[in-house]
Amino acid sequence: MATILNDTSRTFSEYLLIPRLTRSGQRPDLVDLTTPLSAVEQNQLPRFNINIPIVSACMQSVSGTELSKSLARQGGLSFIFCSQPIDEQVEMVHQVKSHKAGFVTSDSNTTEETLLQDVVELMRCSGHSTVPVTSDGSATGVLKGILTDRDFWEFEDDMDNKVKQHMTPIDDVIYGKDGISLRDANELLHKHKKDCLPVLDKDRNLVALVFKKDYEDHRRHPLELLDDSKRLCVGAAVNTHDYQDRVPALLAAGVDVMCFDSSDGFTEYQMEGIKWIRENFGNAVVIGGGNVVSAEGFDYLIGDGLVDFVKVGMGGGSICITREQKGIGRGQASALMDVVQRRGEYFKETGSYIPICSDGGLANDTQMVVALAMGADFVMMGRYFAMTDESPTPKTSINGQMYKPYWGEGTRRAQNWQRYSDGMNSRQIMFEEGVDAYVPLVGPVAEVLETTLYKLRSTMVNVGADSLSEFREQAILTMVSEQSVVESGTSTVFQFSSNRELDNTDWGNRN
Ligand code: IMP
Repeated sequence: MATILNDTSRTFSEYLLIPRLTRSGQRPDLVDLTTPLSAVEQNQLPRFNINIPIVSACMQSVSGTELSKSLARQGGLSFIFCSQPIDEQVEMVHQVKSHKAGFVTSDSNTTEETLLQDVVELMRCSGHSTVPVTSDGSATGVLKGILTDRDFWEFEDDMDNKVKQHMTPIDDVIYGKDGISLRDANELLHKHKKDCLPVLDKDRNLVALVFKKDYEDHRRHPLELLDDSKRLCVGAAVNTHDYQDRVPALLAAGVDVMCFDSSDGFTEYQMEGIKWIRENFGNAVVIGGGNVVSAEGFDYLIGDGLVDFVKVGMGGGSICITREQKGIGRGQASALMDVVQRRGEYFKETGSYIPICSDGGLANDTQMVVALAMGADFVMMGRYFAMTDESPTPKTSINGQMYKPYWGEGTRRAQNWQRYSDGMNSRQIMFEEGVDAYVPLVGPVAEVLETTLYKLRSTMVNVGADSLSEFREQAILTMVSEQSVVESGTSTVFQFSSNRELDNTDWGNRN
C-alpha cells in the first residue's frame, strides 16, 4: 500500500510571523539582504552572492534581456530561459554581459544641416534633451557637435535655422577617448560641469554617451550585481536534453550561474547532467538543481555535494496546473519546510551549507517574507516580473486597463520553439501543465522592488534580524485559522478605489 504522510500540504498564506525584540539602532535601511547562490563550505565565503534574495523565473514571458539588466541593477539575478535555440539564449546572455552600465548608445542623433524644427520634434518623441550631431546623423558617425535644448529657444529662435547655427561645435566639446573607464568619464563630467560626455574613437566617430544623471542613478542603486570586470551578472537555465552543447556555449558567453529548469528534478536525467557539468567544468561553475519538494529529493540532487543550490516547488506557480492535470505536487510551505529541515541536518553532517530557492506561487509580498523566514535563501518569481515594464512581452490594453501576456513553460505556446529548432526533435505535447494568461501592468522593476524590499526589511527589523541568516534563525511562525485570515484583512471598514490604487500588496488582483 502507498505511504500516506501524516501531514497536510500547507501554503505560505497559512502562516504569520510573531514579532521579537527590536534592538535600538535597528532600522530597515541598515538590514543586509545579501544571500548566497553557491554552496558554502564551513568558514569559507560563498563563490557567488546576490545582493537581494530575489531571482526571476526561467520563462519566455519573464526573463528577457531588459528584465535581466534591470533586475541585476537592483541587486537580483535573472535566469534567461532555455526554451529557445542555444544561439538565441547565448545572444541574450551576451547582450546583458556587454551592457556597459553608464555607457549608452545614442538613439537620437542629427546632422548639421537638419532644421531646428525637426530636432524639436525628435526631442519631443524621444524625450531626450541632448542630441549628438554626426556627419551622417547616425549613432556611430563622426561627431560634429552637440545640440541640447538649452542651445535654442523654441518660441524666440527661427525654427528654420540649421542645427549647425546653434550647436556646440566639436572643437568646444569636452569628450572622452574610447576605452575610458566609467570613473574617469564621470570625473571629466564633474570637472567640466557637464551633463553629457561623448566618447569618441581615434577617428572621432561617436562610440557612446555618458550622462551625469546615470551616475546619480548608479549612486541610488548601490546594490547593483556586477562581476569582477564590472559587467552585470546574469543566470541561465539549462535542460536535460542538450546541456552538452548549451552549457559550454553559455559559459563561453560569460554566464555567471546556471540552473536546471525542470518541474521535476528528482530524476536520473538531471543527475547525469549535473555530473557531466562537474566532470567537464569542475567545481568553480555555479549550478543549481531542481525542482524537488521533499527531503528525499534534496538528498538525491545533492549527491556528494554536486549542486550549489536546490530549487523547491511543484504545482504552486500562478500559471501552473500540474497538480490538477497530474495529481502530483506539494503545498509550497510544506515542501520548503521539509527540504530546509534536511538542509540543516546535511549542514551538521558535512559542514556544507546548501542555499535553497523557493520557486513559484508567491502571490504577494507577505508570502515572500514568510518563505524567507521559513528558510529559503532566495525566492524565484514569474508573475511578479511578468507584470513589469521590462518583461519581454508587449503591453496590451483590455477594457482601458494595461496588461501583459504571461504564459507557463508547460504550455503549447512555450513548447512550440522546439518545432523551429534544428537541434531538438519536436516532441508531441499530449497535455499542458500551464496556462496562457494576462497580468496587470505595474510599472518599472525598480519601483515595485523598492516597495517589496522595504516591507521585507521592515519585517526583519520587527523580528530583530540584521541579516537573512538571522531572520531564519530568529523567526517564530504561527499557523493561522481561517478566522484570523479574515481578521488580517479590512473586513469591518469600507475601502474606496483610491485606497486600492495605493495598495499594491496583491500583485495580480488590482482593478
Ligand atoms: P509564479 O511566480 O507563481 O508565477 O511561478 C513561476 C514558477 O512557475 C516558475 O519559476 C516555474 O517553476 C513554474 N512554472 C513555469 N511554467 C510553468 C508551467 O507551465 N506549469 C507549471 N509550472 C510552471
